[in-house]
Amino acid sequence: MMPFLSKKIVLTNEKEAQTPLKFKQKEYFCPNFNIPLKKRLMSTYKEVKRVTTHVLKAMKQDNVKISMLTAYDYSMARIVDDAGIDIILVGDSASNVMAGHETTLPITLDQMIYHASSVVRAVKRSFVVVDLPFGSYQGDPKAALRAAIRIMKEAGAHGVKLEGGVEIKDSIARILSAGIPVMGHLGLTPQSIYKFGTYVVRAKEQEEADQLRKDAKLLEKLGCFGIVIEKIPASLGEEVTKSVNIPVIGIGAGGGVDGQVLVIHDLLGITKEFQPRFLRRYLDLYEDIKGAVQNYIEDVKSQDFPNKAVLRIG
Ligand code: KIV
Repeated sequence: MMPFLSKKIVLTNEKEAQTPLKFKQKEYFCPNFNIPLKKRLMSTYKEVKRVTTHVLKAMKQDNVKISMLTAYDYSMARIVDDAGIDIILVGDSASNVMAGHETTLPITLDQMIYHASSVVRAVKRSFVVVDLPFGSYQGDPKAALRAAIRIMKEAGAHGVKLEGGVEIKDSIARILSAGIPVMGHLGLTPQSIYKFGTYVVRAKEQEEADQLRKDAKLLEKLGCFGIVIEKIPASLGEEVTKSVNIPVIGIGAGGGVDGQVLVIHDLLGITKEFQPRFLRRYLDLYEDIKGAVQNYIEDVKSQDFPNKAVLRIG
């Protein structure tokens, strides 16, 4: 079932020999019955050598939450992958945080391929999903397939993400027909920001919520391996997650989903202005980096650097 894991089955006593098949299959991956199943499963998934769409689906079935973060360059992707993240998203948010654009619309397919190929070179374990940029898949399924093939071939990505539901179903089906894993993205889809006019929570009204429910089922039926849902009410996030058998990853969609995704610059506190309620910052790197640079400037100006003393941190 999961080719990257150890094949050794260890059954040490009578009780374990009578363990139902379902649990024996878990034992296949992690032999210590003294640890609660949930914990065993978590550590089992940490040992997975390569995260695949099958692993992600199994994580949903086992109720092990999926961690997902963005990365856009080699050095950051290396750290994020080494830390054990399950999915790395080369998001078109690169347009904001890497290039300084106000929206995600200006980023091009060539630029996404540049970012994605840098990330893929760093990654050993994570599943790497790349956003198809605005204008590369809406309206023309053949163009969508060409764009997705470029991302897979030139960047070495493992899958692509597209924003939208029924309105892009032909593009999704065409990409899937080439054997390319597709992730959907519903709710607040930033490529449609000029239609929405604002970044506030989506699907609060019945009609939009119903459409989102239908779109999620459609994406599953088409064969998507997962869905990102962004900025929708937590109750709807949970309902949609329960309604499909593919993993649903939330951002600002509450805790009832199968996993969480954040933009790495937000988590690290590199972006200062972006302060949505759902965000948890784990560092204040903006201030830390600024302080380090200020110290360096001071040392250069005062000729304290270079000198024979070596300053080591950590
Ligand atoms: O581009 C991106 O970073 C995204 C996430 C916010 C889900 O799509």
